[in-house]
Amino acid sequence: MDATPAIERALERALSYATVGDRPPLLCRAVEHAIFAGGARVRPRLCLAVAEACGNPYPEAAMAAATSIEMLHAASLVHDDLPCFDDSDLRRGKPSVHVAYGEPLAVLAGDALIVLAFETLARECAVTPDRLAPLVATIARSVGMPNGIVAGQAWESEPSIDVEEYHRTKTASLFVGATAAGATAADSDPQPWMEVGRQLGAAYQVADDLRDRVASAQEIGKPCGQDAGNNQPNIVDERGIPACIAQLQEHVTAAVEAVPTVPGSDSLRQLIHGEVKRLTPRKLARSAA
Ligand code: IPE
Ligand code: IPE
Ligand code: MG
Repeated sequence: MDATPAIERALERALSYATVGDRPPLLCRAVEHAIFAGGARVRPRLCLAVAEACGNPYPEAAMAAATSIEMLHAASLVHDDLPCFDDSDLRRGKPSVHVAYGEPLAVLAGDALIVLAFETLARECAVTPDRLAPLVATIARSVGMPNGIVAGQAWESEPSIDVEEYHRTKTASLFVGATAAGATAADSDPQPWMEVGRQLGAAYQVADDLRDRVASAQEIGKPCGQDAGNNQPNIVDERGIPACIAQLQEHVTAAVEAVPTVPGSDSLRQLIHGEVKRLTPRKLARSAA
């Protein structure tokens, strides 16, 4: 079953606590733009699919984790698009938050979403309080330092970057957070699920680098050629397109194989295949098939 409508409702509910009274109005609009201007919701869907595969005994905790992870992802994109990072005007086919609302409100919208992510987790876990501490720890680890998104983005300011460490922290960490949080919300051992997140996250970043090189802004809803423009490592430059397609396939196979065999794991495997299909640039779809 597609979890997207339930995720949208949970995000609307979470934001309603922050935008109540419309104070201040432009910050409220900027936060709504960051969350509701599109987005494939892959991380929350992954989190919920793992929770389902683990029996989902605490659905409120699973949805709280999924919502919190999507808000952290959205915050990371708002900050990533700022002129001091990628200076990107387009996101999800629409103006980036700083283009629509200005830089100060984009910084604040990102900050507000980070805080709201943990506030939402706290509120929605009120019925399952013993899930709260492990979920906070799991999710915080995947976005902070030394191994989360913050560390990943910071590598861009170092004189030399190991592209695999950069991708692992910048992108795969939140996929690991999503799978681990899904299992943790269900009070299951997160360890066996973390490899699924690692492999899918690695596949995701290879696909994103391929899209940066060979897709069009119209196809992907964000500018192409950004990595070269920003002098950031892109794995296609290091390995070439055929090797990257092969690497993408290897990560996908490894992600599917890492899924523990439990009732409900088939829908998780389908989710992985569907995502890779969606992310493979049209031009390369034939060779990647
Ligand atoms: C974009 O993530 C940033 C990367 C880590 C490559 P998504 O491709 O999941 O972005 P949305 O949320 O669907 O726009
Ligand atoms: C964004 O990475 C991932 C974050 C941690 C914010 P990229 O810069 O490679 O992704 P896009 O191309 O902006 O979505
Ligand atoms: Mg970017």
